[in-house]
Amino acid sequence: MNPVTFIYDWIDRRIGLNDLTAKYLTGYLLPRNINIWYSMGSILLLIFGVQVLTGILLLVYYSPSIETAFKSITFIMNQVPFGWLIRTCHAVGANMMVLFLLIHMISVIFMGSYKAPREFNWLSGFGLLNMVFGICLTGYLLPWSQLSFWATTVATSGAGSVPFIGEYILEFVRGGKLVGAPTLGRFFVLHVIVLPAGIAGLIGIHLFLLQRTGVSTPPSYDGPVEHWKGEQYEYEKHPDGIPFFPHFLVQDLVANCIYAIFFFAIVFFVPNIFFPAEAFFPANPFETPAHIKPEWYFLPNYQVLKIFPNEFIGLIVQGIAMTFLAALPFIDIWPKRNFLKRPLFLTCVMLGIFTFIGLMIWGHFS
Ligand code: HEM
Repeated sequence: MNPVTFIYDWIDRRIGLNDLTAKYLTGYLLPRNINIWYSMGSILLLIFGVQVLTGILLLVYYSPSIETAFKSITFIMNQVPFGWLIRTCHAVGANMMVLFLLIHMISVIFMGSYKAPREFNWLSGFGLLNMVFGICLTGYLLPWSQLSFWATTVATSGAGSVPFIGEYILEFVRGGKLVGAPTLGRFFVLHVIVLPAGIAGLIGIHLFLLQRTGVSTPPSYDGPVEHWKGEQYEYEKHPDGIPFFPHFLVQDLVANCIYAIFFFAIVFFVPNIFFPAEAFFPANPFETPAHIKPEWYFLPNYQVLKIFPNEFIGLIVQGIAMTFLAALPFIDIWPKRNFLKRPLFLTCVMLGIFTFIGLMIWGHFS
């Protein structure tokens, strides 16, 4: 017997490796007509992994104080071997995380996978969406550049418009009346400890729920599916499906490689695409830049706050939109999932997407 087989058998007899493989890898069946949209989740896992790794490497040289933050980032970019690569990967990766999160969410909406019995999958995903926005917002301040300082000033100022308690919320978020050293301190802790731990935990819950419900069958499929009838807990089986290992894993790896090509094309050919000019100057609280805008994914929120005469009304409108999104599986309770056969649903979703993109473009040029 060769040594590898011997060691494998030795472990198998103790913890049942064959049993685990049969249950979660070769015997875990996915829908036969599973499509590329089902690989968006694994791309997100890859992005999160890369963010954690590059984030840890950045922490080796980054120094979180208002005197040293910008200098340490400049040092990483210009002096540390491959520091520019690590930092660019981290900054581009943050944008990719939001982009692929939106793609994953929209594909889940189109395929109706948020419907019963997957309400918890949806809610855990919604929690992840908010935490990812939080981690992006807090990370933006850390370089302590003109962009960091003023974008955070703009992004946090909306909180001050809440009647009666606005001032207190603002002071709580900033750690003072203005963005300053205490803001950097609390954003740093949130960015490197609280939010990554929270996201990792919630990803675990998201994947656990996926294991319990089984992956949804793409709505166009007309083969044998054992759909949930709502009377008791049932795992969605796919009797004629493909095994997770090796079939789906290979499909996922191909999707991950295509993503990697796209990602490195940005990192190597347009590394500054997400860095406006203000990102290259240290923060100066006494000099307001002429055109300060939040990141592309916060532009719709920024524009909504500007449209209304009172920022608080803008906040309420956003709160309603987010509540509606969170409650989607409890509002759209009809079992039909094929969007091509649901004209009203399709119209609402397209209107939602166009409004989001329209506000983004408007926010960019306003
Ligand atoms: C860090 C963020 C996230 C990660 C790492 C993640 C990961 C995954 C993975 C690996 C899957 C299984 C394969 C797939 O369908 O892609 C999945 C499924 C799912 N995700 Fe996410 N996800 C994230 C965010 C979200 C968000 C923002 C939502 C919606 C608000 C969401 C809702 C769902 C739902 C409903 C499913 C079940 C799909 C089905 O069974 O067909 N996820 N997610």
